[in-house]
Amino acid sequence: MAYFYNGFSILILVLVLGIVSTCMVANAGNFHQDFDLTWGDNRAKIYGGGQLLSLSLDKISGSGFQSKKEYLFGRIDMQLKLVAGNSAGTVTAYYLSSQGPTHDEIDFEFLGNVTGQPYILHTNVFTQGKGNREQQFYLWFDPTKNFHTYSIIWNPQHIVFLVDSTPIRVFKNGESIGVPYPKNQPMRIYSSLWNADDWATRGGLVKADWSKAPFTAYYRNFNAQTCSGSCNSRFSNGAWQSQELDAYSRRRLRWVQKNFMIYNYCADYKRFPQGFPPECRQ
Ligand SMILES: *[C@@H]1O[C@H](CO)[C@@H](O)[C@H](O)[C@H]1NC(C)=O
Repeated sequence: MAYFYNGFSILILVLVLGIVSTCMVANAGNFHQDFDLTWGDNRAKIYGGGQLLSLSLDKISGSGFQSKKEYLFGRIDMQLKLVAGNSAGTVTAYYLSSQGPTHDEIDFEFLGNVTGQPYILHTNVFTQGKGNREQQFYLWFDPTKNFHTYSIIWNPQHIVFLVDSTPIRVFKNGESIGVPYPKNQPMRIYSSLWNADDWATRGGLVKADWSKAPFTAYYRNFNAQTCSGSCNSRFSNGAWQSQELDAYSRRRLRWVQKNFMIYNYCADYKRFPQGFPPECRQ
């Protein structure tokens, strides 16, 4: 009887683990396994057996990488340490995107600055090929001193941008009010470091200082939690699948938006004299 009982519970355990592991894929990353270096020749590098990646930019070229896999919903975390010192004119883009003219895209872009002045974290959401949903923020720390975690939670109800687990922006599913929502096109993760000194630093006012090149940004601790099977399974209830932020996260979001948001398309009256896009009324 005891033997039967043990065998039976092991069988149950194996079954449950099997179901959990097919529905929830928590992927502690290795850059060799998860990403391809796509441009910039040896300006993009992977070190330490896959634990660290760097992108550089010099006068000749920037560099970039992309994920091997595509993702449809999930929580994607990456730690970045941005170009230090005089980074004016450099842009480090880190985003999710599908392909084609009606692609969807979820963007983080870090606009560099002269030494001691704040980076701008620029965000945007494209649905069905249409963006124009910019929000910009200063950060509450120096993003060049240490690694910080930049995350995207993407589920059928909302897209949440997070910095060190603090939500800074939420884009809700507004299909009921006629706003397309990304939910059918899988996206890859992309990142690139490039020269945008024709617009990045206050409309191109401050140029890149090439005497400080190469400019380098670092990446580590990539992690993706996704569903490989159905996200509706009761076994795959990762926190990222929750439909709403909890009270603490909503307070944090308000704190960031009140103190660090420097541009919000939903408050730009000049740009939308005929009225704001419908999602701004949510
Ligand atoms: C750079 O610093 C200036 C002065 O503090 C600030 O106005 C600007 O928003 C900062 N960021 C960028 C990308 O220009």
